[in-house]
Amino acid sequence: MPTTILVTGACGYIGSHTCVELLAAGHRLVALDNLSNGSREALRRVERLAGRAVAFVEADVRDRGALERVLRGQRIDAVIHFAGLKSITESVAAPLRYYQNNVGGSLALLEAMAAAGVRRILFSSSATVYGDAAAPVAESAPLRPNNPYGRSKLMVEQLIGDLALAAPDWRAGVLRYFNPVGAHPSGTIGEDPRGPPANLLPSIAQVATGRRPRLLVYGNDYPTADGTGVRDYIHVGDLARGHTAALRRLFAQPGSFTVNLGTGRGHSVLEVVRAFEQASGVAIPCTFAARRPGDAAASYAAAGCAFELLGWRAETGLDAMCADLWRWQSANPDGYPA
Ligand code: NAD
Ligand code: WQD
Repeated sequence: MPTTILVTGACGYIGSHTCVELLAAGHRLVALDNLSNGSREALRRVERLAGRAVAFVEADVRDRGALERVLRGQRIDAVIHFAGLKSITESVAAPLRYYQNNVGGSLALLEAMAAAGVRRILFSSSATVYGDAAAPVAESAPLRPNNPYGRSKLMVEQLIGDLALAAPDWRAGVLRYFNPVGAHPSGTIGEDPRGPPANLLPSIAQVATGRRPRLLVYGNDYPTADGTGVRDYIHVGDLARGHTAALRRLFAQPGSFTVNLGTGRGHSVLEVVRAFEQASGVAIPCTFAARRPGDAAASYAAAGCAFELLGWRAETGLDAMCADLWRWQSANPDGYPA
């Protein structure tokens, strides 16, 4: 049944891709973003891809009054909450900014939802809440984030958990993403980091377009097959479809849930570099560098719970992730126009 969904952080990387899937599933959307790390152009391209309009509200999730007006005025049925800051390094340097934005923003949103009588929410959490738990990482693994960003995500998970305990008519889905990568197969929307990218795939893509001279491979002495770090890369389109599946469950049955969204498969840095070179036809010069502090050797999901609860599993392989990323990056070497 089509419903009206408020998508916070809709102009960002995962939000924009999820909007495409939500529109395809027939939902009406209200997109909210403060444009601190997102682009209005991304949403225009989403509308073009879907052939449907999306209402846009420029606002900050910490502005409870603005949220309440949207929730009531637009008759929202459920919220998907992507809005937040996501750089681990920045969070170490500016922890208060991260707690303020991620925890403060989520608190204001939940208060506004409670006041407006909207009690369905999907929350973007992260595998970073597991710290360096041994792979494959199940949802029941100990939660030991080792940076302020991860702790801010865990705090919001706990906030939502307490709320669901106190008021069982709330239905909440906490989604722990592993490493989202790639772009929409059209190549018209994708990841557009501001400043030098911290993550592997955007870094590789910028080497390919000549924006960066070479890739630094952080560590080649890990206890993995080729010595480089292993991660669970998940295509952003699969991740987006994970949200439509989670939303279906939220509307179909009471109760709350926490699930990993990953593929259950790990790939090393060198495997990713080779797959990207194959997909793009561009050589990626690499230099081995010291391990990055805080990095685990291997992290990938136990992915069975998402299939059991949501009937969803990731389907796209590493080669297609790289091909789609390259289509986006080569057509938009400088990202979205300012
Ligand atoms: P992104 O930065 O591309 O998108 C986030 C969007 O939220 C941006 O458009 C930004 O302008 C907006 N925003 C930030 N603070 C806001 C505020 N206070 N009010 C309103 N809008 C605000 O990030 P993304 O990669 O799309 O990530 C989306 C969510 O998923 C984040 O919560 C992130 O922590 C989480 N997550 C991301 C990853 C990843 O690797 N990309 C992995 C795990 C979890
Ligand atoms: C992947 C691998 C690096 C860059 C982080 C968060 C996680 C989620 C995704 C938000 C590692 C190596 C990287 C480079 C490299 N985000 N690498 N050279 O650290 O697994 O996950 O982003 O929630 O929670 O923790 O992702 O892409 O930074 O690194 O060698 O220039 O690539 O050491 O092995 P990570 P990543």
